Amino acid sequence: MTLMQMQLQELPADLKRERLPRHVAVIMDGNGRWAQRRGLPRIMGHPHGVDALRELVRCCDDWGLEALTVYAFSTENWKRPQQEVTLIMTLIEQFMRGELPEMMERDIRLELMGSLQELPRSLQAQISKSTQATHANRGLQFRAAVNYGGRQEILHACKALATQVQLGHIQPDKIDRASFERHLYTPDLCYPDLLIRTSGEMRISNFLLWQVAYSEIYITDTLWPDFDRAEFHRALWTYQQRDRRFGKVKS
Ligand code: FPP
Repeated sequence: MTLMQMQLQELPADLKRERLPRHVAVIMDGNGRWAQRRGLPRIMGHPHGVDALRELVRCCDDWGLEALTVYAFSTENWKRPQQEVTLIMTLIEQFMRGELPEMMERDIRLELMGSLQELPRSLQAQISKSTQATHANRGLQFRAAVNYGGRQEILHACKALATQVQLGHIQPDKIDRASFERHLYTPDLCYPDLLIRTSGEMRISNFLLWQVAYSEIYITDTLWPDFDRAEFHRALWTYQQRDRRFGKVKS
């Protein structure tokens, strides 16, 4: 471990603990380009992306964040070559299995969000095992969005509410933010304070559309496999310089 890495085991001194984002969401982009720049096939970037994710989870835990949500696989990602889809599913399954002992040790609670019933059976089984095992953990809440789409999540909530109306359980004019949010995939999800996207793309890409309404957005040109603690430090530092007004004027 280098001196720089050792120093980053703890919350860097220039970050204010009381101004840390409670919840960070990440669009992990740039695995393919990372591999191509090294003359490797595109898909070889994904295992290195998993290494970066493992380190970010540890870092969020070490620095005392409450929640981390990452975009692992979108509903649109099925359109990628079959070999790539299979590799990503395998990597997610290996991660859920391989990281379980450390998640238990660190008291991390794992949750998934997305249409899980369309995933390979062995992955679904591993997801059940790992989420059940970590259910009572009270440390970092780590959520992976798998086969997730923001529009699909909103539609899912609309359909559930429409059914409630049809059954006479709720009057349409009584529908409010809270009753709507109860039907999102993870109703207890606090909104992300900070949304990070790597590889320089300036898009939301159907991620947490409802929840990011007032999130601060941080975009870095760094490709996902290169996103390390120093990069995360920079993102948090930048976040702490922002003035969050939520539509109000400065107080
Ligand atoms: C974007 O890179 C990355 C993805 C679509 C997949 C990310 C998935 C992982 C890192 C798997 C791990 C997830 C878990 C929960 C273990 P890209 O291929 O779109 O990059 P490019 O834009 O440079 O081609």
